[in-house]
Amino acid sequence: MDPYDELIRLLNQQGWAVSDSAISPDWQAGLLARGQELWAGGRFRAGQVGRGVKVNLPEVRGDWIHWIETGSSEEAHPFFTWMTQFRQALNERFGMGLRSQEFHFARYAEGKGYQKHIDQHRGTDYRKVSIVLYLNPDWDAADGGELCLYQPYHPDEEMQRILPLGARLAVFVSGMIPHAVLPCRRPRWSIAGWLRTDVPNPHA
Ligand code: OGA
Ligand code: MN
Repeated sequence: MDPYDELIRLLNQQGWAVSDSAISPDWQAGLLARGQELWAGGRFRAGQVGRGVKVNLPEVRGDWIHWIETGSSEEAHPFFTWMTQFRQALNERFGMGLRSQEFHFARYAEGKGYQKHIDQHRGTDYRKVSIVLYLNPDWDAADGGELCLYQPYHPDEEMQRILPLGARLAVFVSGMIPHAVLPCRRPRWSIAGWLRTDVPNPHA
């Protein structure tokens, strides 16, 4: 059994999955340190909403992000090789035709969240699988910031709340699962990204 088996089984069965053992705490700590370094160096920008015309709406989407570019030192981290292999495993099992992946660091300041949304822009379906790796050591239920998943086709019905615990990996089907990030009470760090069927241009 490869390390993706359980994740893939759950993803297939229920459209989402969480694992606390797939990603090692060493990777979480190293990636957090790198994210904090980039943050201290002013390398984050406000997350935006919309395609084509993009706008800052901090009440809708409150994170600041740093895209991980192809060939950057960040991208050399084994987490991204792991993701390439996970993507290949999904292609082998389900013929999903996932041709690329994209990831960014995200930091939500205290009080920020992300209102309910779906991870596909209107009229496009290239993003197939959403991935979030949480980087927060010592996160407590009182710190909030849960990822909240809602029922496919019934976005008013809450399905699952997931605390952003360090080294926790959450995956879900991008086009089906409405979700939100509830406001957090201390800075909330993650790497979020998508497995895609197209090969997009580099992020500007
Ligand atoms: C996103 C998103 C969820 C999370 O970045 O689109 O929904 O838990 N993130 O950070
Ligand atoms: Mn999302």
